[in-house]
Amino acid sequence: MRSLKAVVAACIVPGSPRMPALDPKSSFLFVTCQIGAEDAVKDELARRWPDVHAAYSRPGLITFKVPPDHPMRPDFDPQSVFARAAGLSLGKATGDDSQQRARSVWELLGPQAVARVHVWPRDVKRPGEDDFEPAITPAAVEAREAIRQACPRREQLAADDRDWRLPARSGELVLDVILVEPQEWLVGYHQATSEGSRWPGGMIPMEMPPEAVSRAWLKMEEGLRWSSLPIPPSSRVVELGSAPGGASQALLSHGFIVVGVDPAEMDPRVLANPNFTHLRRRAAEVRRREFRRVHWLTADMNVAPAYTLDAVEAIVTHPEVNIRGMLITLKLFQWQMASEIPTHLDRVRSWGYNLVSARQLQHDRQEICLAALASPFIRKPIHRR
Ligand SMILES: C[S@@+](CC[C@H](N)C(=O)[O-])C[C@H]1O[C@@H](n2cnc3c(N)ncnc32)[C@H](O)[C@@H]1O
Repeated sequence: MRSLKAVVAACIVPGSPRMPALDPKSSFLFVTCQIGAEDAVKDELARRWPDVHAAYSRPGLITFKVPPDHPMRPDFDPQSVFARAAGLSLGKATGDDSQQRARSVWELLGPQAVARVHVWPRDVKRPGEDDFEPAITPAAVEAREAIRQACPRREQLAADDRDWRLPARSGELVLDVILVEPQEWLVGYHQATSEGSRWPGGMIPMEMPPEAVSRAWLKMEEGLRWSSLPIPPSSRVVELGSAPGGASQALLSHGFIVVGVDPAEMDPRVLANPNFTHLRRRAAEVRRREFRRVHWLTADMNVAPAYTLDAVEAIVTHPEVNIRGMLITLKLFQWQMASEIPTHLDRVRSWGYNLVSARQLQHDRQEICLAALASPFIRKPIHRR
């Protein structure tokens, strides 16, 4: 699903001025996602396009057949929380070695010019299983090099495409190659629009710093980048469910002043930061006046989504509290809880947030990230006794 920045852009400029023509030659879409999220992706696409049906799929990868009277543009937006990357599928590259497959990739693409090459592996395990983290692998980097070497029109590639770590610019056409297996490559393409679509496989390359006290550092950093929440430097940010403190560390590294709310112990390295305050309580036990000077809220509590949203609602709807934007992790204890996400988004909108979006981040486990922003931000009138 689109970042808040993309939602804002779409409100201002309907459509893209650089939109390529409809592509009648591709009658399949591809989506890559976390292993386990495939049914959630299928349900989302079925709700949006009832005549688009799932075809070939593997764990973490689904292709969909598009009916002939329903051609898709390469900038199509699946509006899916669980699709990490999506595009038009052109089929599998053939060949016994990577050089042959690389030539086959360009034959499948045909005369279509692209500015960038994205290559990534499908996930081979559930996130967290045996410490697996979805990422661009050395095999993907190697395959990408072979594909770039075989490019028949290298002058059309963007100069900075040499470095796979650099994102596509908005509007660029991107060749997509998914390593389904090391020797089985699925080829497609898409037009970069949203933040996620600018990165190979929707994965932003980032490394957790050695001093990070939990992998929540990665989730917070990715959530901030995906959502593009316009949090000004030195803002106060409250975090519900802050222990042991990786996400707080990420917020502190951006120069924010962080108030962590959690009955559990914070790591001493986080407590030592003068810009961090720990309220060692449950969210419901914090007096509302503690939130008076705070305009940004994040939440990552290991409780059911309804409980998280109850706790957040009690804060943001209080007459003396003015929260402008939020990043909320919603845990999906069972995958069936995915069907309730549209209701959760509507609930957050009903509190006065007009830009609301959700995505299963690369670093999320069985959970999603919900971003909300009130834009423009209208403060509640000050209540005087
Ligand atoms: C996934 S951990 C949070 C990780 C943390 N964000 C980090 O950066 O390390 C979930 C946390 O939610 C806290 N929690 C659960 N219920 C809570 C509540 N009602 N109020 C505040 N914190 C709560 C737990 O104590 C636990 O520390």
